[in-house]
Amino acid sequence: MDLHLGQAQPTREEEMAVDAVLETPDALPVMGSRRHLLLPVLHSIRNRVGWISAGAVNCAAARLDVAPAEVYGVASFYGLFSLSPLPPVVAHVCDDIGCMARGAEKLCGQLESTMGPAGSACLGGRATWLRSACLGLCERAPAALISAAGENHKERVLAPASFERIQSAVSDAVAGRLPSHPDTLSTELSVPQAGAKNLRLLRRIGKSDPASLDDYRAHDGYSALQKAIDLGPEGVIREVSASGLVGRGGAAFLTGRKWEALHKQRDLGRPHYIVCNADESEPGTFKDRILMEGDPFAVLEGMTIGAVATGAQRGYIYLRGEYPLAGERLSQAIQVARKNGLLGENILGRALSFDIELRRGAGAYICGEETALFNSIEGYRGEPRNKPPFPTQAGLFRQPTAVNNVETLINVPEIIRTGGSAKNAANVRLFCLSGHVVRPGVYEIEMGMTIRSLIALAGGVAGNGRLQAVLLGGAAGTFISAQELDTPLTFEATRAIGATLGSGVVMLFDDSVDLRQILLRIAAFFRHETCGQCVPCRVGVVRQEEALQRLVQGKSLGSGANEISTLKEMGQAMRDASICGLGQTASAAVESALQRWSLFS
Ligand SMILES: Cc1cc2nc3c(=O)[nH]c(=O)nc-3n(C[C@H](O)[C@H](O)[C@H](O)COP(=O)(O)O)c2cc1C
Ligand code: SF4
Repeated sequence: MDLHLGQAQPTREEEMAVDAVLETPDALPVMGSRRHLLLPVLHSIRNRVGWISAGAVNCAAARLDVAPAEVYGVASFYGLFSLSPLPPVVAHVCDDIGCMARGAEKLCGQLESTMGPAGSACLGGRATWLRSACLGLCERAPAALISAAGENHKERVLAPASFERIQSAVSDAVAGRLPSHPDTLSTELSVPQAGAKNLRLLRRIGKSDPASLDDYRAHDGYSALQKAIDLGPEGVIREVSASGLVGRGGAAFLTGRKWEALHKQRDLGRPHYIVCNADESEPGTFKDRILMEGDPFAVLEGMTIGAVATGAQRGYIYLRGEYPLAGERLSQAIQVARKNGLLGENILGRALSFDIELRRGAGAYICGEETALFNSIEGYRGEPRNKPPFPTQAGLFRQPTAVNNVETLINVPEIIRTGGSAKNAANVRLFCLSGHVVRPGVYEIEMGMTIRSLIALAGGVAGNGRLQAVLLGGAAGTFISAQELDTPLTFEATRAIGATLGSGVVMLFDDSVDLRQILLRIAAFFRHETCGQCVPCRVGVVRQEEALQRLVQGKSLGSGANEISTLKEMGQAMRDASICGLGQTASAAVESALQRWSLFS
């Protein structure tokens, strides 16, 4: 990436893209600085022009009063921003593990033979295609995202994607005919349980129009917020704590305790924030997307109840950049909620002021880590911070902050509505089934159901019907074998077999799949996604991929056993000495597979 900043000048289009963000009424400084607008500015340039030139970097730097090298450092951090010329139309084609199990390699091969190698320009220099990490559409794999830069920037998801669908969408986009709306959520394909009785978290999906506040209200929406305001902060925290709700973002921390930590600081006069972590980039995870696409007001209501409990005056939703429909639904819901007195000053006519801003990530898995997410919103590279201090002490803009996952927040209105001590108040969980399963999709089940029963609920094993392995918890999770399917889906039971629930991924592989290729893809994912600031992780993920490649090619340094023990040692070093969860879990899936199968003998 050679970008010579020098005195490079922006084009008129680039200037307009920068100004479009800075001239909005919401573009106010925070703590005296407008640096936090850097990511929205970079998005605006990408949307309009397709890539970030040296002139655009200089323009953003001048307008935001940030050094050009800093802007460059941030822009180069994110996968969605290209610092070299890119055609305006780009087809991002997922070649990650869920899509691999559903024919992604064949699809990429077809694209290569017609459009040329990934990244090369075609259709008169107007289009290209790129391989992408998991797009969070695994229930409809294989998946692609078409992005068309221009004055009317458009993005469209294709899932399931086929060679013909991609080709025709790319041609439409080049001709300026890409439909302005992304694919709608297909409840039939994505939520097989939709409409079933006794659902809690998925109860409105497929029943209530996600764009309609009236419909949301007709399905109990905003009754919990009314009750929460009556209960007051202590009452809300009491109910949430009584329910035993633990975070669904992977770290399994008690939500009531997190909110109490913020509430205790409310008299110190510092701003408090609540952040909804909607970055969802763990390969195989798509539950949060379905909640946001299908029930966006519930996310806002959960956050607003969080504001009652914690004293937060402002909330941010940090949404992964590759979720266009969720972004559209959430921003529409925010506007409607504001118009109807459900966000802003004196919410529901009571002494509660709280508003929410939507921020989009830009293709960096690490930004799901809560402190990396703060840096990203603040306009810095998304590198995790050392902890302590914890977010509840010094989080976003160094102020007390509660970070909660989307699914965690969706639990909250239900808990307040039914009471925290009600049976099973927080005992249901969402799981994302994908790969070789008959009915992929998001499933809501009571904790404690066995993996076997969950697979049966989803119609059983697809592909050739002979199950080889299940990946639990995503790329940072664990492979288990067909002999371990009677394990109940609880934190304790999965821990007992050395596995993790993580973000709720349950990905099936039949015995035709070459698991070694899956491990290589996981290793490539971590090599690409490390932020690189600490040595064990930065070096470990590269060495892990190299060792696996040698093993797959039968070119081990010394014996295969020697190579495998090096892999284990590297895994231990990453676990022991990495700053954040990425490095600490980057070898988990690889090691779990090596433990269970003799893949390299
Ligand atoms: C590398 C990495 C990626 C993460 N990605 C996400 C994510 O996409 N969504 C999420 O909610 N939590 C993610 N987390 C966990 C967050 O740091 C944090 O624990 C969580 O958002 C807290 O919310 P919860 O208590 O509701 O689970 C990630 C953690 C790590 C280490
Ligand atoms: S463990 Fe890896 S991703 Fe996390 S801070 Fe260190 S280098 Fe960055």
